[in-house]
Amino acid sequence: MQAHDWFNEARFGMFIHWGAFSVGARGEWFANRERISRDEYIRLYVNNFRAEHYNPDSWAQLAKDAGMRYVVLTTRHHDGFALWPTRTDDFHAGALGPKCDLVGPFVEACRRAGLKVGLYYSPAAWYHQDYPGAYFRDWAGNSDWASEASRLRFIEFYRAQLVELMTDYGIIDYLWYDGCVPDNLQSQEVNEEMLKLQPNLLINKRNGSPCHVHISEQAVKPGPKGMLWEACMTLNRNWGFHAGDHHWKNSSEVINLLTNTANKGGNLLLNIGPHSDGTIPIPSVNILQEVGTWMKTNGEAIYGSENCPFSWNNWGRLTCRGNKVYLIVMCSPGDTLYLSEIRNRVISARMLEDGKTISFTQDKNRLIIPNLPVPLPDPLGTVIELEIEGQPEPILEQTSFWIPG
Ligand code: GLC
Repeated sequence: MQAHDWFNEARFGMFIHWGAFSVGARGEWFANRERISRDEYIRLYVNNFRAEHYNPDSWAQLAKDAGMRYVVLTTRHHDGFALWPTRTDDFHAGALGPKCDLVGPFVEACRRAGLKVGLYYSPAAWYHQDYPGAYFRDWAGNSDWASEASRLRFIEFYRAQLVELMTDYGIIDYLWYDGCVPDNLQSQEVNEEMLKLQPNLLINKRNGSPCHVHISEQAVKPGPKGMLWEACMTLNRNWGFHAGDHHWKNSSEVINLLTNTANKGGNLLLNIGPHSDGTIPIPSVNILQEVGTWMKTNGEAIYGSENCPFSWNNWGRLTCRGNKVYLIVMCSPGDTLYLSEIRNRVISARMLEDGKTISFTQDKNRLIIPNLPVPLPDPLGTVIELEIEGQPEPILEQTSFWIPG
């Protein structure tokens, strides 16, 4: 087992956007978009961030129940307010707001639950005196820094914060950088240093190289061939808690996204935005529990899935692992299912739902599975597992999908 293998085995993780911004209850960017000053941000939001019901064990339990294998917490979002008592300045949860460390208990709770630990860190810091452009649309370039001295001070500051995160909490599995940051952050040097502190660390691609994980935000788009990749997604339309955002994805949509990423050999990092007190919005809990119930029966179709060459049908999605192919049937095709993409000889077929083998026939182009129940037992996705001869081989490789204009 290689140090990074856990990532491809996991396939499903929890993203948590939480911080002083959660008090505002209108997403995680409002302080910037509403041009709120540092003093006002501290007075109205940071000071009212109490985390009074913070219980990271309950977060970890929900992640586990949902079938997730890792969790990534925003230890410091673009507002620059650190959730741990950083020694670099006084803008942190140890000195203001809850007046305690929120990162340590999170890391311990994840470990207790057997979940891998991911720390999100945004190198942006809107309220930092050396930060070049809190309101830029694009990354600030070289000339946007007040001075070279200010750029170097800023780099020293964020580097020191990262060193704290990578040394104070034991083994960290995943460093999840965000973008929207200035250029020229000496990221290569910084990342190399982090890898010295945590040799098995995975680093995402948002702060340059060296890095390991390509990120696809609010979309299911794999990165360069052979690179680990992850789709990060919101459950409604915001990352941080937004009291007015009721646009939730339902469990069927989540399973559709999860099976789509698993089909393409990637992970789904699905977000929750807890209230400022640390409790999780009820709709998020309900959706994740429904997904978890599905995962208990059908997780085999997800964990450790490999890039799957089958995808073209009208009933659902397929995933592959070794000599297993999983047919995740989401729209009942009636009592007979046809799969016309598979070249391999099929050895056996069974329903994951009850483990019972089912009959099938196969000719040159088609696998035919007759006598399916109508409706299917699980409307979210009934999974049929095929055991095949050899590695999955498509009859036709899909290259592009082109409709003449
Ligand atoms: C975007 C947003 C940020 C969020 C991130 C998650 O970069 O600016 O608020 O944390 O997406 O990927």
